[in-house]
Amino acid sequence: MAADKPSQLIEHTYDGIQEYDNPLPRWWVYLFYATIIFSVLYAFNVPGIGVGKGRVANYDADVAAWKAAHPEPVGGATPEELAALASSPTALALGKQVYATNCVPCHRADGGGSIGPNLTDTYWIHGATLSEIYKTVSDGVLAKGMPNWGKLLKPEQVNAVTVYVASLKGTNPPSPKAPEGVPIAP
Ligand code: HEC
Repeated sequence: MAADKPSQLIEHTYDGIQEYDNPLPRWWVYLFYATIIFSVLYAFNVPGIGVGKGRVANYDADVAAWKAAHPEPVGGATPEELAALASSPTALALGKQVYATNCVPCHRADGGGSIGPNLTDTYWIHGATLSEIYKTVSDGVLAKGMPNWGKLLKPEQVNAVTVYVASLKGTNPPSPKAPEGVPIAP
């Protein structure tokens, strides 16, 4: 880059060495000033020293906004929700469909049991309340071969199949599997 003015020899001499005054090009100097101004604005605005909220706060705000826009699927239905679904024909119909698709191979179409236990009798291994059935269905019993449906189905499907299973109690299908677990009064 050609300098505007011819280079000048500077007066002083150190150890017999003289140097030229080689000014930096204007564009370089202005760029340098611009970075200084930028650094001040940046320090005041971005890291949270000055007027800005700061990077971390901005990030947290963005994450909070995203979470508000994308609510987590509600896992873990409350007993009240399940009780309400138990008398909802829509939920029972959905539950029947979910059961037919996912549960029949192990619990039989009528719930009489084969690989998995009989779901129609009064004997239960993991409890017979809606919340207990919900927990068994959602968490599964992986060690015994009962899948964790909470990870495989949508929350409303788990809720629906829970109330559907509860509705099978006392249906007395033919040739059921022998009782497993402990008797629980209906
Ligand atoms: C791959 C086979 C398999 C499938 C598919 C399966 N289960 Fe099971 N299920 C089991 C086994 C095995 C058990 C017994 C677990 C134990 O012994 O603790 C069980 C237990 C249960 C219990 C607890 C019974 C009790 O006595 O406490 C419920 C409720 C249940 N299953 C519901 C379902 C539902 C609803 C589905 C479909 C969404 C389903 N299961 C699909 C194998 C299965």
